[in-house]
Amino acid sequence: MGRVADKVVLVTGAGSGIGRATAKLLAAEGAIVIVSDINAAGGQETVQQIGGKARFEEHDTSHEDDWKRIVEGILEREGKLNGLANNAGISGPYPATFETETLEQWRRMLSVNVEGVFLGCKHAVPAMRQSGGGSIVNTSSLAAFLATPDLSAYGASKGAVRQFTKTVAIDCARKGYKVRCNSVHPGVIMTPMGESVLPSDKARDRMKKRIPIGDFGQPEDIAYGILYLISDESRFVTGTELVIDGGMNAI
Ligand SMILES: NC(=O)c1ccc[n+]([C@@H]2O[C@H](COP(=O)([O-])OP(=O)(O)OC[C@H]3O[C@@H](n4cnc5c(N)ncnc54)[C@H](O)[C@@H]3O)[C@@H](O)[C@H]2O)c1
Repeated sequence: MGRVADKVVLVTGAGSGIGRATAKLLAAEGAIVIVSDINAAGGQETVQQIGGKARFEEHDTSHEDDWKRIVEGILEREGKLNGLANNAGISGPYPATFETETLEQWRRMLSVNVEGVFLGCKHAVPAMRQSGGGSIVNTSSLAAFLATPDLSAYGASKGAVRQFTKTVAIDCARKGYKVRCNSVHPGVIMTPMGESVLPSDKARDRMKKRIPIGDFGQPEDIAYGILYLISDESRFVTGTELVIDGGMNAI
């Protein structure tokens, strides 16, 4: 209890899966959580599950006006911003190879998964500086390290998040901003998104066999990593990649 006591943390894509588990864990560890999602019903359900110290903001992370409104609103209402879990993402139609992917699908993927993360860093950093410092955690993927022939734009988007995270981390560190920035890299996690790329029992069994630990991850497995990176326990950690994947990236 209390690992992030009284920190104000914005969690995007918190209406489902990893974002919801992260919002709940941060709140349980003492944070004041702003739950944001494009899906209002999902976001409100997360706030209900948390109980007291959370509120919901409807948020399309690919829209800069939404970021401005939400970050300004947090500074007005909560008075500070200490953490951002830049987690919202889409995986698009499955399968989507580079030959079948349309330009429209490719652009939408990069708009949410890359531009959304960029806008989050851009607008959170000044607010965090004003708040005495902060920590940003960008959700990338195991896909940032491996070829993803059936998810071509998705893999490209997560590779961009991995690299951009280091740029933000080093720029902030060199300028003495007291803002850390790290990426988390989930493997195959049982959320609506994770399940969408495992359409049959056969596909699940095949995938499970590729995971050294022998099972899929749960949203909480990633939430614990994000909690660590948001908390002051990771005060010396910036620009790093936290891979949480049951060992897949090590083989
Ligand atoms: N589940 C996995 O296996 C896995 C693996 C690697 C990385 N990830 C990443 O983890 C993050 C969370 O994914 P998840 O598995 O919890 O998926 P999910 O589909 O359960 O949740 C994603 C949430 O993001 C929201 N969202 C989508 N577009 C948005 C937008 N433009 N603005 C705001 N919110 C938006 C959705 O409404 C949803 O609530 C994503 O960035 C995803 O790419 C997931």
